[in-house]
Amino acid sequence: AFASESAGARRQVDTVAHRGASGYAPENTIAAFDKAVEMKADYIEIDVQRSKDGELVIIHDTTVDRTTDGTGYVKDLTFEQIRSLDAGSWMGERFKGEKIPTFDEILDRYHGKIGILVELKAPELYPGIEETVAQKLKERHLEKPQNEKIIIQSFNFDSMKKINGLLPKVPVGVLTSSKEHTTEQALKDFSAYAEYVNPHYSIVTEDFVQQVHAYDMKIQSWTVRKPEEAEFLLKMKVDGIITDYPDYVDPRK
Ligand code: G3P
Ligand code: CA
Repeated sequence: AFASESAGARRQVDTVAHRGASGYAPENTIAAFDKAVEMKADYIEIDVQRSKDGELVIIHDTTVDRTTDGTGYVKDLTFEQIRSLDAGSWMGERFKGEKIPTFDEILDRYHGKIGILVELKAPELYPGIEETVAQKLKERHLEKPQNEKIIIQSFNFDSMKKINGLLPKVPVGVLTSSKEHTTEQALKDFSAYAEYVNPHYSIVTEDFVQQVHAYDMKIQSWTVRKPEEAEFLLKMKVDGIITDYPDYVDPRK
């Protein structure tokens, strides 16, 4: 997508399909990720957690209750149990049969087709998940710099420091909705290991965007669910917009 600069020049803004194009298909399923590709988003955003028996799976909540026909914590269910769940019907009969994807499947299906913004969701529940993520990227030679279009982000900053140590060439992002993390000191701390500061849009100002840029980091903001929220973030000159509706960022797409 392109935002208009005051001078009239055009500046690249990445459209990130939040949990896939989740306004149009059930979040974190192949249907939603394929839809994002079809809509020509620049990235898909995925939430990574781990089954009881160690499989990395793509789901947002720490339980399966809201988005599947099952119940229980992701960490307490085996992969076989998780895989047997229907992750589509809750959004409509036409999505019946969608499954919870694995991290392996996402890397293999989408790498090279669309960027992947990988969120480690509640990594404190999954000790050692950083090593597994690093291993899966390395197996596929995806631990290279930016041109591989893989970014890893989390609300858990210790986990991101660890990822930066394991995968020094893969850009890391910190997620926050707290104003505490907009101070000069916070940005200085982030810049030691992160290349992205990814805030909720409620704490974004033009000044903050400039400060993030002054530390040589980028900023992707979330979660856009209304056209006017996209307009606001374009005006703030963020580098990426994380949205359930990729067409709100660039209607031409
Ligand atoms: O990518 C940012 C956004 O996904 C963070 O919030 O709760 O949707 O994972 P959440
Ligand atoms: Ca997320």
